[in-house]
Amino acid sequence: MVSVAILGAAGGIGQPLSLLMKLNTNVTRLHLYDIVNVPGVAADISHVATNSEVKSFLGPSKLPDAVTDIDLAIIPAGVPRKPGMTRDDLFKINAGIVKGLVEAIAENSPRAFICIISNPVNSTVPIAAEVLAKKGCYDPRRLFGVTTLDVVRASRFVKDIRPKVDAATLRVPVVGGHSGTTIVPLLSLASPPVELSEKEVEELTNRIQFGGDEVVKAKDGAGSATLSMAYAGARFADSLIRAQQSGVAVVEPAFVALDADPEGAAEYRNLGAGSLRFFAVPVELGPSGIKRIVPLNATISTYERKAIAVAADALAINIDTGVAFATPPA
Ligand code: NAD
Ligand code: LMR
Repeated sequence: MVSVAILGAAGGIGQPLSLLMKLNTNVTRLHLYDIVNVPGVAADISHVATNSEVKSFLGPSKLPDAVTDIDLAIIPAGVPRKPGMTRDDLFKINAGIVKGLVEAIAENSPRAFICIISNPVNSTVPIAAEVLAKKGCYDPRRLFGVTTLDVVRASRFVKDIRPKVDAATLRVPVVGGHSGTTIVPLLSLASPPVELSEKEVEELTNRIQFGGDEVVKAKDGAGSATLSMAYAGARFADSLIRAQQSGVAVVEPAFVALDADPEGAAEYRNLGAGSLRFFAVPVELGPSGIKRIVPLNATISTYERKAIAVAADALAINIDTGVAFATPPA
């Protein structure tokens, strides 16, 4: 039995993500929550011939029911960027949305896994951690900022310049955070290995860091990535569910609290994460969420080390902003 709630289910990401979760045969109950339009989305998706039950929850009065008895909450609620905006520009609106939703999850399903898609992820995840801690149910192994789209882009963008590569199986670790220069692809550790010139590494790194902007620009005011994000979010949720159900080790990257596994985090701290509370790292998932932070077991390039240092400076500010919002300094 796996019950999944999608909060923000009527949105650009929410709709295709809800459909993909309806297609996931491990899911038995799907709760779709939004403040608009969700009855139609739920009615539509409920006709898809898989065994899960779909329920619709419209508006704040239905939020507690939407997040009662759930195993996993996925949060794509909030406003997306328009051209000229940074993800940090979304903080003003999305911080409060994420805070309210996580409070409701803490009160009604305190053991649920929580996957946060709403931007700025570098700040909304720290907000969620603070909220959960205040409610007495914070478990760093169960909270995830979804950065899967960065690794999806990394594989696909390498394919664009090396057509023989299989984009579906190529893995590039991406560490740091989820915005601009906080996104650090470790192309030197691509698996299987890919030979790249210095110039190619720089160009690819820049494209992966600013891949979101390509979509924002192309959508020209109509939002940001939705379909590729739904794919990435569904992939991450599926990994989490499979790891929980089967106990088989599944590795995915995510923006997580490094104290979920202090031992595993040590290598990333040495590489430049320093004393940061949160960092995107590859995590091995298991029945209780994060089983361990997976070591790189390899030397990264000087270029990548410098990129991590740049990311860490920006991340420190993003993380502090989230924490200060949820727990204002006295
Ligand atoms: P959207 O505007 O199409 O959809 C957002 C949905 O959230 C809407 O249906 C809206 O009604 C709903 N919503 C607003 N306030 C809510 C509340 N309090 N409770 C429940 N639902 C609420 O936006 P989108 O394109 O789906 O993007 C959503 C978020 O995901 C944005 O913040 C965007 O920046 C982010 N995003 C993150 C990634 C990532 O890699 N993590 C990728 C793409 C987009
Ligand atoms: C992305 O990477 O596509 C998302 O974070 C959305 C955005 O604002 O770029």
